[in-house]
Amino acid sequence: MIPYKTIIKIDRAIKQPVYIQLTNQFIDLIKERTLPPQAKLPGSRTLSDLIGVHRKTVVACYEELTLQGWIESIPKKGTFVHKDIPILQQQKWIEKTVSKKNDITGFSFKQNPILDQNFPQDYLDDYMYVNDGVSDERLTPVKELSIIYRKISNKKHTLKYMNYGTTYGNPELRDTLVSYLNETRGLNITKDNILITRGSQMGMFLASQLLIENQEYIIVGETNYSSADTTFEFAKAKLLRVRVDKNGLDTNAIERLCEKYAIKAVYTTPHHHHPTTVTLSAQRRMHLLNLAKTYRFAILEDDYDYDFHYNHAPILPLASHDTHGNVIYVGSICKTVAPVYRVGYLIASKDFVDECAKLRRFVDRQGDAILELTFSNFIKDGSLDRHIKKVVKIYKARRDLFCKLLKQELSDYLSFEIPKGGMALWVVLNENYSWDRVTKVAKQHKLIISEWQCYDVENANHNAIRIGFARNNEMEARAFVKRFKETMQDIDV
Ligand SMILES: Cc1ncc(COP(=O)(O)O)c(C=O)c1O
Repeated sequence: MIPYKTIIKIDRAIKQPVYIQLTNQFIDLIKERTLPPQAKLPGSRTLSDLIGVHRKTVVACYEELTLQGWIESIPKKGTFVHKDIPILQQQKWIEKTVSKKNDITGFSFKQNPILDQNFPQDYLDDYMYVNDGVSDERLTPVKELSIIYRKISNKKHTLKYMNYGTTYGNPELRDTLVSYLNETRGLNITKDNILITRGSQMGMFLASQLLIENQEYIIVGETNYSSADTTFEFAKAKLLRVRVDKNGLDTNAIERLCEKYAIKAVYTTPHHHHPTTVTLSAQRRMHLLNLAKTYRFAILEDDYDYDFHYNHAPILPLASHDTHGNVIYVGSICKTVAPVYRVGYLIASKDFVDECAKLRRFVDRQGDAILELTFSNFIKDGSLDRHIKKVVKIYKARRDLFCKLLKQELSDYLSFEIPKGGMALWVVLNENYSWDRVTKVAKQHKLIISEWQCYDVENANHNAIRIGFARNNEMEARAFVKRFKETMQDIDV
């Protein structure tokens, strides 16, 4: 008999029931052939005496092992390891001690280096992080949303949304958004033109998967939202870049490219270009729409920050002027309310929306119908508008303060234009400094600038990055500027 007393270890401090601990250890002994097929196990009374557990525990363990097929009981003879246990390859000692099973797979799979870009980082306490323009989660209207969520969850009417349903998104939210987007953004859509997504990113993913065949061309800005670049590259698109100036994408450059290549799509963030924050001028908007009509390409309009404008009324999206079905419009409430609520929309001609709904079925099956219904109510009762009014006021004050502090404390080192909207500044370092160096020294001051390379993919030497201001209250903005200034002073020494 093997020395059960020394081999079996029961830990009474852990939550796992003793009979399960015992079962698992027997399975290990069988797998590693310490107990080979047909080996006889001790009787329940003998084992319980040997290892100091209740006899019922051993009985429960043997029942479990029998049910799982590891052992069998032969009447009048006793309990034996099952004779048909296949021989597992013996593990080498080194493999046994340094188990890699959680790190490395035992099969091959596709690993695409394109996906290494834009991968979110872990955050450390005490450090301040430069973000590219995100909302302040502390302003999330959690209470209002949870009241609505609870109220509708208890209604009989909501039961039908608890099961598998449509891939287009909650029908009530689709209705609500049709009215809301037609009113606020001058669109002219019906329910057939809208698919509810889990955010703008999903809209861009679905659209690019359907638009692009291997190595087809998509035009993006020379500076561009880098996750959009990755999304298109993952769809196997070939990216062509055009200059972005103070009026946004250079549409003359787009026209020249259209004369030379078969262009499938143009990606744009016309309200505030990501990353430089400029607005696409009215003249260029009309030019772009005309080019799309002539050359039959899609305009993928990402209206990620439509609600945040501080100096004038928002500029209506390209989608509101689209008369030939060229625009695919994506947006969400993720920036407006909070990124955790994954509710967005894709607006396009019916045929494209239908195909997106079919594809979505195999990525996500369906959205979160109850959350979507919650947002339908949140929009209908005017809460979204009230929330937008409130946060726009706060973000405008934060923009003004942040710009004032940067001018006051750091104008020897950098420059920027005050953005008319959005949640970030485009900050250019003076030529004697580089973000590469600033990033390294800033870390010593517990300031993390992680994404500076992604703003200059063409090595055009912009020496600029995007710095979000909306998430920082006054104290945080002052602390940020202080750390930034100390960094620059350190570099000067
Ligand atoms: C330009 C741009 N587009 C799209 C997104 C993705 O937004 P969502 O959270 O709606 O997926 C972001 C998020 O940061 C963004 O900055």
